[in-house]
Amino acid sequence: MKFIYKEIARLSNESIQQTINSLQDYITILNDIAKANTYEDLECSMNLPFDTELLKIVQGLASKKITDKLKYVILIGIGGSNLGTKAIYDALYGFYDLLQPTRFPKIIFLDTQDEEVLAKTKILIERLSDKEEILVNAISKSGGTTETAANLEVIYAALTKKFGDVKDRIVFTTDVGSKMYQIATKKGIDVLNLPKLVGGRFSVFSAVGLFPLACIGFNLENLLRGAQNMRSLCLRSASEDNPAAISAAILYLHSVSGININDNFIFLPQLESLGKWYRQLMGESIGKENKGITPTVSIGSTDLHSVGQLYLGGPKDKISTFIYGEHPKYEVIVPENTEFDLVDTIPQKQIHTIMYAIVEGTLSAYTKQELPYLVVALDKISEESLGEFMQFKMMEMMYLGHLMEVTTFDQPQVELYKVETKRILNTK
Ligand code: PA5
Repeated sequence: MKFIYKEIARLSNESIQQTINSLQDYITILNDIAKANTYEDLECSMNLPFDTELLKIVQGLASKKITDKLKYVILIGIGGSNLGTKAIYDALYGFYDLLQPTRFPKIIFLDTQDEEVLAKTKILIERLSDKEEILVNAISKSGGTTETAANLEVIYAALTKKFGDVKDRIVFTTDVGSKMYQIATKKGIDVLNLPKLVGGRFSVFSAVGLFPLACIGFNLENLLRGAQNMRSLCLRSASEDNPAAISAAILYLHSVSGININDNFIFLPQLESLGKWYRQLMGESIGKENKGITPTVSIGSTDLHSVGQLYLGGPKDKISTFIYGEHPKYEVIVPENTEFDLVDTIPQKQIHTIMYAIVEGTLSAYTKQELPYLVVALDKISEESLGEFMQFKMMEMMYLGHLMEVTTFDQPQVELYKVETKRILNTK
């Protein structure tokens, strides 16, 4: 992964360096937490990729649940309990599910409340012939989220109606001691935990993300290797090249000068869910105490044809992070003898070359409009590069929260809607 910011961030090197210097004490603290390698600090999620015991537990349980017949993993969870897994799954598989209808196992994500989705999932269950074709992973850190509880009940009822006892096809992932944990223990349902101090949006490298991915045969080692390598870079001192600290410093400096929107402009459509994962990470980590930067997600080149005008010609209230892949996985070429001759510069060009020209054209337009931006160039989309990117962004958020002087790891106002919902449901 390359992270580029010089000149294009439109800030002086001195001001960036000064801000990074102010992070040095915190960098030292993070290094101590990494050295301790425990789960006793709020930033402990950065130790997850090194947890070999966790990997063994997750892979052990997954190997018991994976069968030759497994076709669907139903992941029931919302927010931090599903966004990270969905980001990774969509990047490598989910985005192509329509094009690869016979590739199994697939993950079906149930998060919000939607009766049509549930009705259709019930029909899908009804059509299965063996309970080994399905596995349910219900994930809730708190163990008491309304949407997750309702989806779980509906799916469990449909499965028992069809197959009788299906407890061996259910796995719960939750905090030790939660209501969900207690019920799983009582009913003999397999249960995985995550460390108490690892919040949902920082939990992708815990059992929350690792177990469902293991169940579809995903290469966890590569994902975690990417995260491990990136952690080392993001623990570098203020005087070295620390991508997370630099990125946080730039976002912070722009935010104090009133640029409070961070648009993640992703020129890889299969990474849209990754953008949404980041949206939660930034939204919940620093959107509090009347502070915050609003994260948005745009997809290139699609959104150039929808919001490109606004971005290039509207208010200068955004700092953009452009994300693209440097190397194509496949070689697809426009034929030499084109049939329709609509655009004369494309014959014999690789699709990647065309996309790259669009990326370069967009960056050049942003430069001409004097708009600040950053560039994250992924080598290509792979388990490893996703691990790198996610670790980079989680550590960026720790530094950014520190600079903004907010409590990065809580989300007190999310509780407001949860409590209200439960109160209203009580009266129905
Ligand atoms: O980041 C968070 O804490 C939230 O978005 C939660 O992940 C979300 O509300 C789901 O909570 P739970 O995992 O407890 O069901």
